[in-house]
Formats: sequence, C-alpha cells, structure tokens
Amino acid sequence: MSIEAFHQDILQGIPKVIPAKKEYELSINHAPKRKAILSRDEKKLALRNALRYFPKEQHAELIEDFLNELETYGRIYMLRYRPDYTMFARPINEYPGKSEQAKAIMLMIQNNLDYAVAQHPHELITYGGNGAVFQNWIQYRLTMKYLAEMTDEQTLAMYSGHPMGLFPSHKEAPRVVVTNGMMIPNYSKPDDWEKFNALGVTQYGQMTAGSFMYIGPQGIVHGTAITVLNAARKISKANETIKGKLFLTAGLGGMSGAQPKAGNIAGCISVTAEVNPKAANTRHSQGWVDILINDLDELCNRVRIAKEKQEVVSIAFIGNIVDVWEKFDKENIFVDLGSDQTSLHNPWAGGYYPIGISFEEANEMMANNPALFKEKVQETLRLHAAAVNKHTAKGTYFFDYGNAFLLEASRAGADVMAANGIDFKYPSYVQDILGPMCFDYGFGPFRWVCASGKPEDLAKTDEIACAVLEEMKKRSPEEIQQQMADNIQWIKGAQENKLVVGSQARILYADAEGRMLIAEAFNKAIEKGEIGPVVLGRDHHDVSGTDSPYRETSNIYDGSRFTADMAIQNVIGDSFRGATWVSIHNGGGVGWGEVINGGFGMLLDGTKEADRRLKMMLHWDVNNGISRRSWARNEGAIFAIKRAMEMEPNLKITVPELVEDALVDGVFEKVTG
Ligand SMILES: NC(=O)c1ccc[n+]([C@@H]2O[C@H](COP(=O)([O-])OP(=O)(O)OC[C@H]3O[C@@H](n4cnc5c(N)ncnc54)[C@H](O)[C@@H]3O)[C@@H](O)[C@H]2O)c1
Repeated sequence: MSIEAFHQDILQGIPKVIPAKKEYELSINHAPKRKAILSRDEKKLALRNALRYFPKEQHAELIEDFLNELETYGRIYMLRYRPDYTMFARPINEYPGKSEQAKAIMLMIQNNLDYAVAQHPHELITYGGNGAVFQNWIQYRLTMKYLAEMTDEQTLAMYSGHPMGLFPSHKEAPRVVVTNGMMIPNYSKPDDWEKFNALGVTQYGQMTAGSFMYIGPQGIVHGTAITVLNAARKISKANETIKGKLFLTAGLGGMSGAQPKAGNIAGCISVTAEVNPKAANTRHSQGWVDILINDLDELCNRVRIAKEKQEVVSIAFIGNIVDVWEKFDKENIFVDLGSDQTSLHNPWAGGYYPIGISFEEANEMMANNPALFKEKVQETLRLHAAAVNKHTAKGTYFFDYGNAFLLEASRAGADVMAANGIDFKYPSYVQDILGPMCFDYGFGPFRWVCASGKPEDLAKTDEIACAVLEEMKKRSPEEIQQQMADNIQWIKGAQENKLVVGSQARILYADAEGRMLIAEAFNKAIEKGEIGPVVLGRDHHDVSGTDSPYRETSNIYDGSRFTADMAIQNVIGDSFRGATWVSIHNGGGVGWGEVINGGFGMLLDGTKEADRRLKMMLHWDVNNGISRRSWARNEGAIFAIKRAMEMEPNLKITVPELVEDALVDGVFEKVTG
C-alpha cells in the first residue's frame, strides 16, 4: 500500500462503508475462545456497547456479525475492520499528523500489533495471552485518527483501549494518558475481567501491551539473562562458573520465549518445554532457541551429551513441562536451576495447559467445559510441584519467575508452602535476585526505540550508551560494580546477539544516573543530526513502576507490599514531569487484581525542552521507587537514596531509623509477661 493510501486509511477513522467480512486466517496464532460468561441480557448490553461506535443505519447489518463473534470467540473484536495495510513500526516521518509526539505513539502502537511481535495480532493481543492494546479494531482505528489529527495543545484520554477523546491541554502535558483495567477494588476477581471485557468496558493491558511499549522478547532477555546469571552465581561454589549447568523451565511465548536466548547469553544449557508447537516453531525460526525436540528419550540423550561437553545450547521440548520434570527425575538428570514461565497469571483461559490431554483438546475444554478444565489445571499443578520438590530435594535451586506459579499451585493445594504456612517454599526471582541486586539500587529495564527505523541509528545509540556506562563505571562505588560490568557486557554483545524483533529497539538495565546520562547523550546526538528521534521508555517491571506483592515488590518486608501507592505516585509524577504518554494498569504479569503497574513513553527530539524533561522525569521515575524501598528498610535502597541525595541537593527523602531486633523481641516479655 502506498504512503498516501496508508495516510488516507488512518485519517478516515471508522470507514463510512462497512467493509467486507475477513477470512479467519489459520496460519496466524489466535487467542483461545474466551469463557462464555455473559447472560442473555448482558450479551444485549455488549451488542449495544459495540454498536455505539457506528451510525444507526449500519446497526442492522453489523449486529449479527458482532453477535456471531461474541458467540464464537467470547469477545467482539470487530474483525472486519482490521486494516489491510501491513502492521509494523514505520519510520516516524511516514505517519500522518501535526504532532511529532503523537506520531511516535502511532509507531509504538503499530509495533505492538506487528505480526512478528504480537502473540495474537488479530485479537489485538501483544503478549501474555490476554495483554491487549485495544479491545477491538474500531478502537484502534479511532485512536490512530485522533493521534493523526491532534496538536501539542491536546491530550488524548484512553479508557482501556477506548479513546474517550481529545481534551485541550498544553505542550508540557502528556499527549496520551492510558488507563487499563482500573476497577473498583471489589470488582477485580478473574471472572470480573472475563465479564467486563466481554461487555466491552475494560481490558487487560498487561504491562507493556496496553502502554505501547512492548519491544518483543528482547525486552525480557536482558532481565532473564541477569536473573539466570545471578541465580547461577548464587549456587556456584568458589571458582565454579555457569558452564555446563542445566536450567529447566517452560514457555516459549511472548516473554517466556526469551529464556533460551538468555540461557545462551548467560552461558548454560537450557531446556524449555512448550506445549504449543506454533509458539515453539516461531521462536526456533527466529533463532531464539537452537534445537527442537518432541521425544522425551531423545531429550534426555541430548541433555546428557550437552552436559558432558559443557555445551552452551538451548533446547525446546515440544510438550508439557510436567512430563519433563518427571522424566528427568526418573532418569536422574540433575537440574541445577529450575523455574517456570507458563502464563499462570491467566490459568483458566489458556495460560497453563494440563497434562494427559492434547493441546487441541485442552483448548476445546477450556471454552466448553471450564469447570473440568480448571480441575485438570489444578491437578497438573499439584503434580508439577511434586516433581519440582523431588528435584529440589536433590539440590536444584528453584525460583518462581513472576508468573504466579507458586500462588496458583498453592491455591490448587500443591505442596509449595513453607513450614510457617504463610510463605512459599521457594523464593521469587525478585526476592532473591532482582530486588536486592537491581531494583533496590535503581537498576531496571530502561529501553529505547530509534524512531527513524534505521538499524544504523540503533548501532550508534548502543555505542553512545556503552561509552556512558564505561565512563560511569570508573567512578561507581563497589556496591554496583558487578551491575555495571554485567550491563556493559550486555550492551557490547547486543548487536551480535541479534535481538531486534519489530522496531529498532534496545533494552539496557541502568540506574537513575545511567538512564539520565544515556538519554542526555542521545538527545545531544539527535540535536547534532547524528541520529533521528528516539523514544524512551521502560518495562513496567521496574524499580518504581509496579506494586506487585508476589513479584516486583516481593522483597518489601514492612507490610506495604500489598499497597499500590508507589505505582500510582509514579505515573502521576511522570505525567507532570514531561512524559509524552503515561499509563497505569490493573493486572500485568501476575494476574488481574494482583498488581498495579505503570509506565511512560518519552520522545527525544534533540530540543532543550526534551533535555529538561528527560532529566526531571527520569530522576523521579527511578528515585520514587528507591525512596519507597529505602523506607521499607532495604539496605541497598538506603545506600542508593543517600547517594542520590548527595548528587541532587533538591532531593530530600525521609530515611528510616533501624530498630534493634532484641528491643522488639524483648518488649513483649516486659509488657505482656
Ligand atoms: N520473568 C519475567 O521477567 C517475567 C516478566 C514478565 C512476566 N512474566 C510472566 O511469565 C509468564 C509468561 O509470559 P509470556 O508473555 O511468555 O506468556 P505467553 O502466554 O505468551 O507464553 C506462555 C507459554 O507457556 C506455554 N505453556 C502453558 N502451559 C504449559 C505447560 N504446562 N507446559 C509447557 N508449556 C506451557 C503456552 O503455550 C505459552 O506459549 C506470564 O505469566 C508473565 O506474566 C515473567
């Protein structure tokens, strides 16, 4: 399609003439049929809700089609309105519009729906099984039209994918404010998502899906590589390395697909089980996993060879993870590191597949007999945990990978509770690794996208970022030397590791100072014309963006991990400090009602204004979380916030006084006897 036709298609918004129905393409990975949850009256409401986007005279023609979609898929996606042009992040100057910032947002939206990037592109799902960019194609079309028409004196308010409209604002305000799945707290049970999403009034934005900041599995490779590397460091004896160690896990989907690549980068042997052959083949064809195997005996043989030769190799097993844990136990194959990244935040709608039935049967059962499906999932979870327990008894280090595995396993009655009956037997990766080693010091998944779409711009930004970090490392304190070294190694290998899927994007863990210095250097390079504009952002899975008691904030021990003040403060603070767009979500990685998470996007255009904004916003965006982690008495965060105050005299933080354990323990005897 020509650029003119592309512009026209965007500017028309909702087509005047109803387009012909589209074929259901079987070659595309589709979302599973959602649970049939609406009553007849509620279905009528869903239809009324869908039809309010269209002129009255079209209602009679559309209503049957929409009811068919509701009955067939459990949702109204308005599939006939899916545009005909190819969906991908075009260079920023190819978008129509009056605002560069709005064009940057269009680029990011299209990247989230790119077939190479999105998990279920036709259902507007980017990752995580239900992480939606929009609820339906009309919301997409309307949003793109608003973005193409808006000026820098307006802000677009987006309610769970629905563009409420443009409101007058000002240049320094965000161009878009996104809220996804924000519910009255009592209406935040998993079935509330099913119902209100089917009604068309809310959506599950996951983290970077509904905030247009997803950059494919690269986004998570870096964090996963750091996690695997540090997990191996944790269990290694002196002079031992990760070489020859076996990492067993599951999931080759949106984010989990990063695991084999991260295993290779960290330098170990990895086995990743995946029940969906399409997902496994996609990751294999993209070069994210080295070998595909679908026979358990063959798998055992291959792993034995890899161990013997201390190979760095990633193996995908097409089948159920529970079978692998059980088989490796029987065959006495020692697993050094174990985890799981099936989508257990979404256990009843395709996130986790039970053993004993085929993938197709499972898909059929979850839609037509959800009660039996739930039983099967819970039974599998009990077996899953039992098999893992056998391995950990032999010395495997198992950690929860932020996918609600331990939470759902405990709810299924699996043997995963610690002796005190309150905690889990196994740590989460944030409790043991990412929290104390990264987040408490401000290190988190900073990222950027070169809006020119040019690979050479990305290469240039890699060089700039590397030079900044190397300079910083020379004067970094001992406490963060290992972090700095790991991140420098990552950025040096980034080009060679061919991580780009979709937009020209890069992720790099950095602390507040690192993020500000890197962004400042990018802005200067843009001003000099060395590179085109750059979009900054981060994963929501970060120092300050996410309150999630079993994941991002699982290493907060002052009782406040069940509060969500930090994430809300963060997004409000970002919005008035210069973010180009902000977003706040209910849901995210561990499930609806289990987490509040937010993020931002910021366009760097080489101007003085961008320089001012980036410094002000990035400083807050990281130090907000460090101050909260410090107030929770986390040692690393107390160190980091004191250091931040020395560097910025305008930062004045309330620092906790530590109480002697003996005093607290002893007081009961004195007072209550
Ligand atoms: N570790 C992290 O840093 C991190 C970060 C964010 C999210 N997560 C969590 O990890 C989970 C996975 O995310 P995703 O985007 O990859 O989701 P996804 O749904 O795209 O992928 C999960 C994959 O697991 C497969 N699967 C399900 N049950 C299985 C089983 N029993 N055996 C083998 N394979 C099975 C599915 O077919 C699917 O392809 C989510 O819950 C997510 O929230 C982890």
